[in-house]
Amino acid sequence: MHMHKFEKVWLIFGVAALLVFLTVLGVSAFYLGNQPPSCLATIDPEKVDTTAPFNEPGLKKVEGKDWDYELVFVAQAFAYTPGEVEVPLGAKVKVIATTKDVIHGFEVAGTNINMMVEPGYISEHVTVFDKPGEYLILCNEYCGTGHHMMTSKIKVVE
Ligand code: CUA
Repeated sequence: MHMHKFEKVWLIFGVAALLVFLTVLGVSAFYLGNQPPSCLATIDPEKVDTTAPFNEPGLKKVEGKDWDYELVFVAQAFAYTPGEVEVPLGAKVKVIATTKDVIHGFEVAGTNINMMVEPGYISEHVTVFDKPGEYLILCNEYCGTGHHMMTSKIKVVE
């Protein structure tokens, strides 16, 4: 079979690119341990109020973990609990969220925190709040008539 030179070059390029991408994916998943952000931890959405840590939403100092604080949020149409929370400047925080009813969003404006909060699952994100100020938390998944009013606030204070 005759193949044009450029066709061969592109074929080799394509296969090589595929191998590079698969290698990157494999190293990321199996060596660095990266996994999809949710769908790992599950929870009974009917029992959120009585399941730790969601029985006590808010900021909690923790010891012996890779982060200093855990910031627990419960989403429910059409509000988050807590409705406002203070976080010390520079703290390494694991944000942990779940929902009691439908799918909600959890976007912290001005940061790269943007999670989907799904009933039955726990969404987590570890971050450092290194700039003081007020950060608005928004629901960015349409969840019903009060969707546009669903907000909370993180105040990063010294
Ligand atoms: Cu909750 Cu939109």
